[in-house]
Amino acid sequence: MSEKLESYLSATVGRELPRREFLRLGATAAGAFALAACGGGTASPGASAPTGPDFKVGGILPTSGTYAELGDSIRKGMQLYFDKVGSQAGGRRIVVSNEDEAAGDPSIPLAKARKLVEQDSVDLITGIIASPNALAIRNYVDQNKVPTLISNAGVNALSRSQKSPFIYRTSFSNWQPSQPMGRYLVDKGINKLVLVYSNYAAGAETAAAIKETYSGQILAEVKPPFPNTSGDFAAFITQVNNARPEAIYVFMSGQDAIALLKQAKTQLDKSIKVTGSGFFVEQDVLGAIADAAPVGAVTGLHWALTLDNKENQEFTTRFKSRFGKTADVFAMQGYDTARVIVEALNAVKGKTDDKAAFMKAIAQVSFKSPRGDFRFDANSNNVINTVYVRELIRDPKLGYTNKVISSLPNVVDPGK
Ligand code: BEZ
Repeated sequence: MSEKLESYLSATVGRELPRREFLRLGATAAGAFALAACGGGTASPGASAPTGPDFKVGGILPTSGTYAELGDSIRKGMQLYFDKVGSQAGGRRIVVSNEDEAAGDPSIPLAKARKLVEQDSVDLITGIIASPNALAIRNYVDQNKVPTLISNAGVNALSRSQKSPFIYRTSFSNWQPSQPMGRYLVDKGINKLVLVYSNYAAGAETAAAIKETYSGQILAEVKPPFPNTSGDFAAFITQVNNARPEAIYVFMSGQDAIALLKQAKTQLDKSIKVTGSGFFVEQDVLGAIADAAPVGAVTGLHWALTLDNKENQEFTTRFKSRFGKTADVFAMQGYDTARVIVEALNAVKGKTDDKAAFMKAIAQVSFKSPRGDFRFDANSNNVINTVYVRELIRDPKLGYTNKVISSLPNVVDPGK
C-alpha cells in the first residue's frame, strides 16, 4: 500500500488499526482514495473534500476491567458509522481520539475529560460506560460548555436533577429498560422475585425502576459488590436459592455477568427463571459463556441482534464483516452516537462555534436506527426507546441470542 494511501486511511479511520485490518481496509479503500485524490467523494458518494477545520471527537471508554468489552464495542460501532460517511460532515473531517475511562476511580474520567478539552482541544466529548463516571464529568462539561454525548452510562440524574443543556444521552437511562418490565413479569404470572444487582448506582436504579410497576412479592435483594474482583458469586447464588423465588431479576454487565452466569449454570436452582435488564445476557456476554447461556431468560432492552428491520440488518452484517465480532447493544449505541454527530454537523453546516445552536441541532436529530426510530426527548435530553422483551434462544445460525417476543414502545424517562 502506498504511503499516501496509508496516511489517507489513518486520517479517515481516525485511529490506529492492527496491521492486518489496515491492509484489508486498504484494499477496499483504494478506489475511494483514487476518487478523493481527484476531488471526488470518499465513502459518501458526491460529498466534496472537507474544507473546514477538523472536528475533534474525544471518546472516554474503558480499555480494561469489567467493562472493557463494552468500550471496545462502542468504539467499533462509532468507527463503522464514521467510515460509512467517509469520516466527514458539514464540510469538516471528523477525527476521533480515545482515552481510557479506567475502572473504579471517577477522578480518572474527569482528568481525561480535562485533558481532551484543555490539551487536545476536542469539540465534543463522548463515551462513558459507568454511571458514577458520567456524574463525575457532568459539572466540568456543563461549566465549560462542552457538547457531550453519553453513549452508555444510564445514571438517571443526567436526565433529571443533573440535566445539562450540554449533555445529551444516546443510550438509555437506568430507569428505561426495567420500569416497564415489572408489569410484564406480573402479567406473565411471576409473583415471587429476587432482585440481583451489582451494588452501585446502575444496579440500585434498576431495582428502583422495576419496583415502580412490579406488584408481586420481592423476597430479597442480593447485591454483589461492583466490580466483583474475586469473581466468586457462590454466596450470592446461595442467598437466591434460599429465598425460593419463582424468578430472579438481574442487573449486571460485562465480566461480572459472565462470571455469575458461568457459576449459575451449576449452582442456581433449576426451577428459578432468569429475567433482567438485557445487558445481563447481551451478545458480549453470550459470546463468552457458550453453553452456560440461560436459555429461556426473558429480558428487556432497547435492541436485539435479531431485531428485524433493514437498518439493523445492514448494521449487524457490516459490523461482523468489518470486525469479525458479533454486534451488541453497545456497538449499536456507538453507531447511533456517531450518526447524531454527523447529522448535527450537517445541520449546522459545520459551524459549531455557536454552542447553543449546535446543541439545538443535536436535540433535533432523528433517524431510522437499528433500534427503530431514534429521537431525543426535549424534557430529559435522553433518547426515547422502545423496550424489546427478548427471550434467550439457541438459533441454528446465530447461536445463543435474544429473540424479540414483545415491544413496549415510547419509553420516555420521566425527567424528574
Ligand atoms: C452503567 O453504569 O450505567 C451501566 C454499565 C453497564 C451497562 C449498563 C449500564
